[in-house]
Amino acid sequence: MAKVFVSGPTGDRREVRLLSERGFDVVSGPGVEQEPKHRFDRDQWRRHLADADALWIASRDRLDGGDLGGAPRLRAVVKASVGVDRVDVAGATAAGVLVVNSPSPQNLTGVAEAAIGLVLAHRKRLFAAERTLRDGGWKTLEARGDLLAGATVGLVGFGRVGVAVARRLAAWDVELLAADPYQDSARVAKHGAALVPLEELLSRSDFVSLHVVLNDETRGMIGREQLALMKAGAVLVNTSRGGAIDEPALVEALQDGTLGGAALDVFDAEPLPLDSPLRQFPAERVILTPHTIGNSHASRAAGVRMAVESVAAVLQGTAPEHVLNPEALPAWRARFTAPA
Ligand SMILES: NC(=O)c1ccc[n+]([C@@H]2O[C@H](COP(=O)([O-])OP(=O)(O)OC[C@H]3O[C@@H](n4cnc5c(N)ncnc54)[C@H](O)[C@@H]3O)[C@@H](O)[C@H]2O)c1
Repeated sequence: MAKVFVSGPTGDRREVRLLSERGFDVVSGPGVEQEPKHRFDRDQWRRHLADADALWIASRDRLDGGDLGGAPRLRAVVKASVGVDRVDVAGATAAGVLVVNSPSPQNLTGVAEAAIGLVLAHRKRLFAAERTLRDGGWKTLEARGDLLAGATVGLVGFGRVGVAVARRLAAWDVELLAADPYQDSARVAKHGAALVPLEELLSRSDFVSLHVVLNDETRGMIGREQLALMKAGAVLVNTSRGGAIDEPALVEALQDGTLGGAALDVFDAEPLPLDSPLRQFPAERVILTPHTIGNSHASRAAGVRMAVESVAAVLQGTAPEHVLNPEALPAWRARFTAPA
């Protein structure tokens, strides 16, 4: 019987049920919601991988070259959501293992809605108003928000999520800027935004929202120098990947008032360490969410459905739809000619 290792099931453990119904031998790890107290240590993780035919990987888990070396039967690493930056994709390709994600439309809609929600929470001074009232106060100047209409919103990264944000903001009477060296201005203009260099976007935007993939080029792309270019009082929103921002530089910019505020769903280290200096700022300046702001019941259901189909295909010896390393397919086909 083919074995599927589900490294971190979530909530209702629907993925475990659906995979079991397909007749697979499913071994599952501690639930993601049991973080940070319960998770596999490296030895347990490798022991389960050693005879797995497919790995259903949770967002928190990391797969490296050493793991791949100890998993001779592994056909694919499947993710029920999008980001695979904790997976050694090059190593998987070299080993003839497919890396597969589940880019459902519901997933990107969730992140786009969330990014706009975070912008609005800041613009409307939602947390300041909330705190004032709970502290026994009523109307204060500090809690007075402003219109988003007339503001400039800069989107760094104009891929699927960036475009979804732009499309949704198109009717809000905002000025939309985009910085993305791999997009052309005609495509960006079609979605109501103007393509500009990153430096210009930073110096003109009231809100800067990051939507880049994390790679060697984007890691730390918002550092001290870039933060210094931002407008006084501007707000930085990050729902992409924590590594895109130099976190110590961000803390400094918030401390010295260079930056008005931030809204962060993703961090360098996740879960966010208890002693992270980011926790010192009140919610009216820095909104912190645990890499969940884009999640929704709809996107989870869609992602699980897609990933179950991918696992079933892989274990049948058929290439699934969303292979992120298609260059691995020839080696993969040579290794796995029959159902697992
Ligand atoms: N918070 C969440 O729960 C959540 C959910 C889904 C996706 N995400 C993340 O959101 C991000 C965007 O996802 P997506 O599906 O839109 O990805 P995508 O691949 O469609 O788009 C990424 C864009 O970044 C651009 N880019 C690359 N290098 C750049 C650079 N140096 N400067 C500016 N732009 C650059 C690319 O050209 C591309 O257009 C990813 O990091 C993804 O992991 C987060």
